[in-house]
Amino acid sequence: MIDIKNKWALITGASRGVGRQVAGAMAQKGCNLILHSRKKANTDAIKAELSSFDIKILQVEAELSDIPRVKALAAEVETLSGGLDILYNNAAIMTPYNNDIYTAVEDEYILSFKVNTIAPIVLCNAIIPAMIKRGFGRVVNVTSGIKDEPQLMAYAASKAALDKYVYDMTPHLKDTGVLMNLMDPGWLRTDLGGPNAPNAVESVIPGALVPVLLNDGTCGKFFHAQDYRE
Ligand SMILES: NC(=O)c1ccc[n+]([C@@H]2O[C@H](COP(=O)([O-])OP(=O)(O)OC[C@H]3O[C@@H](n4cnc5c(N)ncnc54)[C@H](OP(=O)(O)O)[C@@H]3O)[C@@H](O)[C@H]2O)c1
Repeated sequence: MIDIKNKWALITGASRGVGRQVAGAMAQKGCNLILHSRKKANTDAIKAELSSFDIKILQVEAELSDIPRVKALAAEVETLSGGLDILYNNAAIMTPYNNDIYTAVEDEYILSFKVNTIAPIVLCNAIIPAMIKRGFGRVVNVTSGIKDEPQLMAYAASKAALDKYVYDMTPHLKDTGVLMNLMDPGWLRTDLGGPNAPNAVESVIPGALVPVLLNDGTCGKFFHAQDYRE
Protein backbone atom coordinates (compact mmCIF):
# COMPACT_ATOMS: atom_id res chain seq x y z
CA MET A 1 0.00 0.00 0.00
CA ILE A 2 1.23 3.47 -0.78
CA ASP A 3 1.34 6.32 1.71
CA ILE A 4 -1.09 9.10 0.70
CA LYS A 5 -0.16 11.47 3.53
CA ASN A 6 0.22 15.02 2.15
CA LYS A 7 -1.00 14.00 -1.30
CA TRP A 8 -3.90 15.89 -2.88
CA ALA A 9 -7.17 14.21 -3.87
CA LEU A 10 -10.26 15.48 -5.64
CA ILE A 11 -13.39 13.57 -4.66
CA THR A 12 -16.42 14.38 -6.75
CA GLY A 13 -19.76 14.03 -5.02
CA ALA A 14 -18.14 14.28 -1.58
CA SER A 15 -21.14 15.79 0.20
CA ARG A 16 -22.92 12.51 1.01
CA GLY A 17 -23.07 8.78 0.27
CA VAL A 18 -19.96 7.03 -1.03
CA GLY A 19 -17.99 10.23 -1.61
CA ARG A 20 -18.38 11.26 2.00
CA GLN A 21 -17.11 7.86 3.19
CA VAL A 22 -14.13 8.03 0.85
CA ALA A 23 -13.32 11.54 2.08
CA GLY A 24 -13.35 10.38 5.70
CA ALA A 25 -11.13 7.37 4.96
CA MET A 26 -8.61 9.46 3.02
CA ALA A 27 -8.54 12.11 5.76
CA GLN A 28 -7.59 9.39 8.26
CA LYS A 29 -4.59 8.63 6.06
CA GLY A 30 -3.47 12.27 6.05
CA CYS A 31 -4.44 13.06 2.47
CA ASN A 32 -5.32 16.67 1.59
CA LEU A 33 -8.80 16.88 0.13
CA ILE A 34 -10.68 18.88 -2.46
CA LEU A 35 -14.33 18.17 -1.79
CA HIS A 36 -16.68 18.60 -4.73
CA SER A 37 -20.45 18.95 -4.87
CA ARG A 38 -22.89 21.20 -6.73
CA LYS A 39 -22.75 23.86 -4.02
CA LYS A 40 -19.86 24.47 -1.65
CA ALA A 41 -22.32 24.64 1.24
CA ASN A 42 -23.19 20.98 0.61
CA THR A 43 -19.70 19.94 1.78
CA ASP A 44 -19.64 22.25 4.84
CA ALA A 45 -20.76 19.43 7.17
CA ILE A 46 -18.16 16.90 6.01
CA LYS A 47 -15.46 19.58 6.08
CA ALA A 48 -16.37 20.39 9.70
CA GLU A 49 -16.46 16.69 10.58
CA LEU A 50 -12.91 16.22 9.24
CA SER A 51 -11.49 19.42 10.74
CA SER A 52 -9.66 17.56 13.54
CA PHE A 53 -7.35 15.88 11.02
CA ASP A 54 -4.04 17.56 10.24
CA ILE A 55 -4.85 18.00 6.54
CA LYS A 56 -5.85 20.76 4.16
CA ILE A 57 -9.47 20.69 3.00
CA LEU A 58 -10.78 22.79 0.13
CA GLN A 59 -14.25 22.94 -1.37
CA VAL A 60 -15.24 23.30 -5.02
CA GLU A 61 -18.60 23.37 -6.72
CA ALA A 62 -19.65 22.37 -10.22
CA GLU A 63 -22.74 21.03 -11.92
CA LEU A 64 -21.28 18.07 -13.80
CA SER A 65 -23.81 18.16 -16.63
CA ASP A 66 -22.28 21.53 -17.56
CA ILE A 67 -19.26 20.29 -19.51
CA PRO A 68 -17.53 23.69 -19.95
CA ARG A 69 -17.83 24.07 -16.17
CA VAL A 70 -16.23 20.61 -15.73
CA LYS A 71 -13.28 21.72 -17.88
CA ALA A 72 -12.91 24.80 -15.68
CA LEU A 73 -13.09 22.58 -12.60
CA ALA A 74 -10.17 20.50 -13.87
CA ALA A 75 -8.03 23.63 -14.24
CA GLU A 76 -9.21 24.94 -10.87
CA VAL A 77 -8.24 21.79 -8.94
CA GLU A 78 -4.82 21.61 -10.60
CA THR A 79 -4.17 25.22 -9.50
CA LEU A 80 -5.58 24.75 -5.99
CA SER A 81 -3.55 21.60 -5.32
CA GLY A 82 -0.41 22.51 -7.25
CA GLY A 83 -0.89 19.19 -9.05
CA LEU A 84 -3.50 16.59 -8.21
CA ASP A 85 -2.27 13.13 -7.10
CA ILE A 86 -5.61 11.32 -6.79
CA LEU A 87 -8.74 11.78 -8.88
CA TYR A 88 -11.76 10.05 -7.38
CA ASN A 89 -14.59 10.33 -9.90
CA ASN A 90 -17.50 9.37 -7.67
CA ALA A 91 -20.45 11.69 -8.37
CA ALA A 92 -23.28 10.31 -10.48
CA ILE A 93 -27.00 10.48 -10.99
CA MET A 94 -29.51 7.66 -11.32
CA THR A 95 -32.37 8.12 -13.75
CA PRO A 96 -35.94 7.20 -12.73
CA TYR A 97 -36.99 3.55 -12.82
CA ASN A 98 -38.90 3.10 -16.09
CA ASN A 99 -41.33 0.20 -15.86
CA ASP A 100 -42.04 0.62 -19.56
CA ILE A 101 -38.61 -0.31 -20.88
CA TYR A 102 -39.53 0.92 -24.37
CA THR A 103 -40.32 4.46 -23.22
CA ALA A 104 -38.44 7.10 -25.18
CA VAL A 105 -35.96 8.50 -22.68
CA GLU A 106 -33.56 10.55 -24.79
CA ASP A 107 -33.26 13.28 -22.19
CA GLU A 108 -32.41 10.73 -19.50
CA TYR A 109 -29.65 9.24 -21.67
CA ILE A 110 -28.21 12.66 -22.44
CA LEU A 111 -28.18 13.75 -18.80
CA SER A 112 -26.82 10.41 -17.55
CA PHE A 113 -24.03 10.38 -20.09
CA LYS A 114 -23.09 14.00 -19.33
CA VAL A 115 -22.85 13.52 -15.56
CA ASN A 116 -21.81 9.85 -15.31
CA THR A 117 -19.58 9.42 -18.37
CA ILE A 118 -18.50 12.63 -20.08
CA ALA A 119 -17.76 14.64 -16.92
CA PRO A 120 -15.45 11.99 -15.40
CA ILE A 121 -13.78 11.44 -18.78
CA VAL A 122 -13.24 15.21 -19.18
CA LEU A 123 -11.62 15.29 -15.73
CA CYS A 124 -9.45 12.27 -16.60
CA ASN A 125 -8.38 13.71 -19.94
CA ALA A 126 -7.49 17.05 -18.36
CA ILE A 127 -5.66 15.72 -15.32
CA ILE A 128 -4.02 12.41 -16.34
CA PRO A 129 -1.47 14.00 -18.76
CA ALA A 130 -0.25 16.23 -15.92
CA MET A 131 -0.06 13.19 -13.62
CA ILE A 132 1.98 11.35 -16.26
CA LYS A 133 4.40 14.28 -16.47
CA ARG A 134 4.80 14.15 -12.68
CA GLY A 135 5.15 10.33 -12.79
CA PHE A 136 2.41 9.60 -10.28
CA GLY A 137 -1.36 9.35 -10.17
CA ARG A 138 -4.24 7.26 -8.91
CA VAL A 139 -7.57 7.54 -10.72
CA VAL A 140 -10.70 5.77 -9.49
CA ASN A 141 -13.81 5.88 -11.61
CA VAL A 142 -16.84 4.74 -9.66
CA THR A 143 -18.97 2.39 -11.70
CA SER A 144 -21.79 -0.05 -11.02
CA GLY A 145 -22.34 -3.77 -11.16
CA ILE A 146 -25.86 -3.16 -12.44
CA LYS A 147 -27.03 -5.67 -15.05
CA ASP A 148 -30.26 -7.08 -16.48
CA GLU A 149 -32.21 -3.98 -15.41
CA PRO A 150 -33.40 -2.33 -18.63
CA GLN A 151 -35.64 -0.14 -16.44
CA LEU A 152 -32.46 1.77 -15.53
CA MET A 153 -30.78 1.50 -18.92
CA ALA A 154 -29.74 5.16 -19.22
CA TYR A 155 -27.80 4.84 -15.95
CA ALA A 156 -26.44 1.36 -16.74
CA ALA A 157 -25.30 2.33 -20.24
CA SER A 158 -23.57 5.46 -18.95
CA LYS A 159 -21.55 3.35 -16.49
CA ALA A 160 -20.75 0.74 -19.17
CA ALA A 161 -19.34 3.53 -21.34
CA LEU A 162 -17.18 4.72 -18.45
CA ASP A 163 -15.90 1.14 -18.00
CA LYS A 164 -14.99 1.05 -21.69
CA TYR A 165 -12.98 4.27 -21.33
CA VAL A 166 -10.96 2.79 -18.48
CA TYR A 167 -10.30 -0.54 -20.20
CA ASP A 168 -9.20 0.99 -23.50
CA MET A 169 -7.04 3.71 -21.92
CA THR A 170 -5.21 1.22 -19.69
CA PRO A 171 -2.47 0.18 -22.16
CA HIS A 172 -1.55 3.85 -22.57
CA LEU A 173 -0.80 4.18 -18.86
CA LYS A 174 1.80 1.40 -18.80
CA ASP A 175 4.97 2.46 -16.96
CA THR A 176 3.68 6.01 -16.35
CA GLY A 177 3.17 5.77 -12.59
CA VAL A 178 -0.53 6.49 -13.14
CA LEU A 179 -2.99 3.74 -12.28
CA MET A 180 -6.65 4.05 -13.32
CA ASN A 181 -9.22 1.57 -12.10
CA LEU A 182 -12.96 1.03 -11.66
CA MET A 183 -14.73 0.65 -8.32
CA ASP A 184 -18.21 -0.76 -7.79
CA PRO A 185 -19.38 0.10 -4.27
CA GLY A 186 -22.15 -2.52 -4.22
CA TRP A 187 -25.80 -1.74 -3.56
CA LEU A 188 -25.82 0.70 -0.64
CA ARG A 189 -28.39 2.61 1.37
CA THR A 190 -27.67 6.11 0.03
CA ASP A 191 -29.88 8.70 -1.65
CA LEU A 192 -29.00 7.04 -4.96
CA GLY A 193 -29.22 3.43 -3.77
CA GLY A 194 -32.45 3.93 -1.82
CA PRO A 195 -33.63 2.52 1.51
CA ASN A 196 -34.03 -1.09 0.33
CA ALA A 197 -30.36 -1.66 -0.45
CA PRO A 198 -28.83 -4.52 1.57
CA ASN A 199 -25.61 -2.71 2.53
CA ALA A 200 -24.92 0.25 4.82
CA VAL A 201 -22.96 3.03 3.16
CA GLU A 202 -20.10 2.51 5.63
CA SER A 203 -19.50 -0.96 4.11
CA VAL A 204 -17.84 0.69 1.11
CA ILE A 205 -14.76 1.20 3.29
CA PRO A 206 -12.08 -0.18 3.17
CA GLY A 207 -12.74 -1.51 -0.35
CA ALA A 208 -13.23 1.91 -1.93
CA LEU A 209 -9.69 2.87 -0.95
CA VAL A 210 -8.02 -0.27 -2.36
CA PRO A 211 -7.57 1.19 -5.89
CA VAL A 212 -6.14 4.38 -4.35
CA LEU A 213 -3.53 2.61 -2.27
CA LEU A 214 -2.24 0.20 -4.96
CA ASN A 215 1.50 -0.24 -5.25
CA ASP A 216 1.57 -3.32 -7.47
CA GLY A 217 0.89 -1.64 -10.83
CA THR A 218 -2.70 -2.86 -11.12
CA CYS A 219 -4.45 -0.79 -13.78
CA GLY A 220 -7.71 -1.27 -15.65
CA LYS A 221 -9.25 -3.55 -13.03
CA PHE A 222 -12.88 -3.66 -11.85
CA PHE A 223 -12.79 -3.63 -8.03
CA HIS A 224 -15.82 -4.69 -5.96
CA ALA A 225 -15.69 -2.77 -2.67
CA GLN A 226 -17.88 -5.35 -0.95
CA ASP A 227 -15.16 -8.00 -1.50
CA TYR A 228 -13.06 -6.20 1.12
CA ARG A 229 -15.67 -5.99 3.88
CA GLU A 230 -14.19 -6.51 7.31
N1 LIG B 1 -25.58 3.65 -3.83
C1 LIG B 1 -25.51 2.54 -4.56
O1 LIG B 1 -26.19 1.55 -4.30
C2 LIG B 1 -24.57 2.49 -5.73
C3 LIG B 1 -24.43 1.27 -6.42
C4 LIG B 1 -23.56 1.19 -7.49
C5 LIG B 1 -22.82 2.30 -7.85
N2 LIG B 1 -22.98 3.48 -7.16
C6 LIG B 1 -22.19 4.63 -7.57
O2 LIG B 1 -21.53 5.19 -6.45
C7 LIG B 1 -21.36 6.60 -6.67
C8 LIG B 1 -21.89 7.38 -5.49
O3 LIG B 1 -23.25 7.08 -5.33
P1 LIG B 1 -24.03 7.47 -3.99
O4 LIG B 1 -24.96 6.38 -3.74
O5 LIG B 1 -23.06 7.87 -2.95
O6 LIG B 1 -24.87 8.75 -4.49
P2 LIG B 1 -25.58 9.91 -3.64
O7 LIG B 1 -25.65 9.55 -2.22
O8 LIG B 1 -26.82 10.24 -4.38
O9 LIG B 1 -24.55 11.13 -3.77
C9 LIG B 1 -24.33 11.71 -5.02
C10 LIG B 1 -23.21 12.74 -4.94
O10 LIG B 1 -23.00 13.25 -6.27
C11 LIG B 1 -23.24 14.64 -6.30
N3 LIG B 1 -24.01 14.96 -7.51
C12 LIG B 1 -25.21 14.47 -7.85
N4 LIG B 1 -25.63 14.99 -9.02
C13 LIG B 1 -24.66 15.85 -9.42
C14 LIG B 1 -24.50 16.70 -10.54
N5 LIG B 1 -25.45 16.79 -11.49
N6 LIG B 1 -23.39 17.45 -10.63
C15 LIG B 1 -22.45 17.38 -9.65
N7 LIG B 1 -22.53 16.59 -8.58
C16 LIG B 1 -23.63 15.83 -8.45
C17 LIG B 1 -24.04 14.98 -5.05
O11 LIG B 1 -23.69 16.28 -4.64
P3 LIG B 1 -24.79 17.41 -4.17
O12 LIG B 1 -24.47 17.66 -2.74
O13 LIG B 1 -24.47 18.58 -5.03
O14 LIG B 1 -26.15 16.85 -4.39
C18 LIG B 1 -23.56 13.93 -4.07
O15 LIG B 1 -22.38 14.36 -3.42
C19 LIG B 1 -22.06 6.91 -7.99
O16 LIG B 1 -21.11 6.90 -9.04
C20 LIG B 1 -23.01 5.75 -8.16
O17 LIG B 1 -23.36 5.51 -9.51
C21 LIG B 1 -23.83 3.59 -6.11
